[in-house]
Amino acid sequence: MESPIRIDVSLLPPATRHDTIFKAYESLDEGQSLVLAIDHDPQPLFYEFSHKYPKSFGWDYLDKGPEKWRVLITRQQSITDRIVADLVMEDLSLGKVFDAYGIDFCCHGDISLEEACRCQKLDINEVLVAMKKKSGPGAFWQPHFEEWSVSLLIQYILENHHSWERHTLSDIEDLTIKVADHHGADFPNLKKVKELVGHLKYAIIDHFFEEENELFPMILKGSKSVELLKEIEKMKVEHAEVGAILTDLTLLTNNFQPPQQACSSFRLLYSKLGEFKQDILQHIHLENTLLVAKAVA
Ligand SMILES: [Fe+2]
Ligand SMILES: [Fe+2]
Repeated sequence: MESPIRIDVSLLPPATRHDTIFKAYESLDEGQSLVLAIDHDPQPLFYEFSHKYPKSFGWDYLDKGPEKWRVLITRQQSITDRIVADLVMEDLSLGKVFDAYGIDFCCHGDISLEEACRCQKLDINEVLVAMKKKSGPGAFWQPHFEEWSVSLLIQYILENHHSWERHTLSDIEDLTIKVADHHGADFPNLKKVKELVGHLKYAIIDHFFEEENELFPMILKGSKSVELLKEIEKMKVEHAEVGAILTDLTLLTNNFQPPQQACSSFRLLYSKLGEFKQDILQHIHLENTLLVAKAVA
């Protein structure tokens, strides 16, 4: 048997770790594994894997701290290639979802989820979302944030939201410039989109800097000072500013719906902007509600 790839991210900056791990994972063939070494419990990463690769990866701890954690991560068959009968066997609650969509998981359940959706002319993404809602704990993206420690929550925010939003925003900015330069004459809104994306970038860079260097360290130290409350208020004001820019972008882009004649880069830009908005709204919600509640408790 081929020995697994080894990857140690302990010395990498936190913001780049998940990207490095996902790139390594995606370079694996089905059935291949990698051994991840890291300096803390990678539980948030497990949840991100569950979200990105539902029911299609193996996760086995080889060492569980206290200084070093090692996990054997195995690339398995993608969920869309899995046999529907097997999926129900693993998680009975999925039977109800398949029933609702007319997917036979009993007598004719020996076909892949993708094939079953094709036969029934179903949108597989819609089915996956319904499966995600119904599936049992741990199978999909169902983190119980309220049970997490404040340090785990901050680690999750940094490694998932801050990291992903930073590099996605940079991609969006490049794409906006390209699309606005090429199509700005035909679609005057693009000039304003470019301007708003610029504002968004600066607002977010400043905001992340403030959180990472002021607010989060204060929370991690267990501070309950007046300064902490001021930082929290500042965070909420900045969230509202980012929210306002996103509202303007939503209106300007007709809720990120590209015009019919839009080229593929134009479509990609709107799709990435919509995705970015969803991610940052979850991120803000997590900080404004759960993180604040845990910090001041
Ligand atoms: Fe944040
Ligand atoms: Fe924030």
